[in-house]
Amino acid sequence: MILVTGATGTVGRRLVDLLLTRGAAVRAVTRNPGPARALGLPGGVEVAQANPALDSALDGVTALFLHPRAVGAASAALVARARERGVRKIVALTALNVDDPLDEQPSRFRGDFNKEAEDAAVGSGLEWTSLRASSFAGNTLQAWGQQIRGGDIVRYPYARFQESLLDERDLAEAGACALLTDQLVGRRVELTGPETLTHEQTVGIIGHALGRPLRLQEVPPETAAQGMIRYGLPAPFVAALMARYARHLDRPQHPATGEVAKILGRPARTFADWAADHAAAFRG
Ligand SMILES: NC(=O)c1ccc[n+]([C@@H]2O[C@H](COP(=O)([O-])OP(=O)(O)OC[C@H]3O[C@@H](n4cnc5c(N)ncnc54)[C@H](OP(=O)(O)O)[C@@H]3O)[C@@H](O)[C@H]2O)c1
Repeated sequence: MILVTGATGTVGRRLVDLLLTRGAAVRAVTRNPGPARALGLPGGVEVAQANPALDSALDGVTALFLHPRAVGAASAALVARARERGVRKIVALTALNVDDPLDEQPSRFRGDFNKEAEDAAVGSGLEWTSLRASSFAGNTLQAWGQQIRGGDIVRYPYARFQESLLDERDLAEAGACALLTDQLVGRRVELTGPETLTHEQTVGIIGHALGRPLRLQEVPPETAAQGMIRYGLPAPFVAALMARYARHLDRPQHPATGEVAKILGRPARTFADWAADHAAAFRG
């Protein structure tokens, strides 16, 4: 039995599908349990109530997928309990920037305990893998979706900032590989997309997928930050995001690693692939 925390989310839902398809028994953890189908999960999945100890959810579990947003500060306690209960493998979702200064990790200010999840997995004494993911391709929908639905100009700072966006589907496939095989045991795996793109290029690729002449118009960081805060993002999150962009302008913070291709035995999905498959969400 594989216990998946964060199972109803972006990565977890895809991971659950893959595990089931490959014949694994899966128990999905959620704060709001109900029938699997009502949660957007396949019917064959067991559903468990999230709580700090997850005691009964650990019955018969051999491998645990540790999701740092869902588990929060409780990673170490959960991993210790999992070990006592006979779990043999921990696969943690973490991030490529997990060793960066905390004030340059925007996710910290959303309550993501990536570092704690990795440390708990590595220190567990069990088989472990840390999936250090680069920025998700889906972030572009959150950042720019509303502007793109409203017109052809995207106002955003740091046009030349570049990174290797990772397709969440590739991340879930790497997670399934880590849980179901020994291929990634004992590794901090740096997962990126196949190419490094600037913000400007990324907007252009979305435009191509939509058949529209989208253009990024660079705005000063202070103006952008004020807009994001008015839009509802927490000020410390926005400050960390701007600090990250500023520090790594003109030089990719994390160049493409090629790990996805090595693990999956096929090229990583490109951002153009992702944009083509998600064009409808930008049309609204
Ligand atoms: N976005 C990126 O670019 C990026 C890059 C690298 C790493 N990461 C890391 O990946 C993780 C995010 O993955 P994701 O997109 O799959 O997450 P997600 O979809 O936002 O959340 C996964 C599930 O966790 C539960 N959850 C959400 N917020 C919670 C909270 N505040 N407290 C407790 N449970 C909560 C929800 O399940 P229920 O409602 O069913 O309980 C949700 O479906 C974060 O740790 C992030 O730092 C993200």
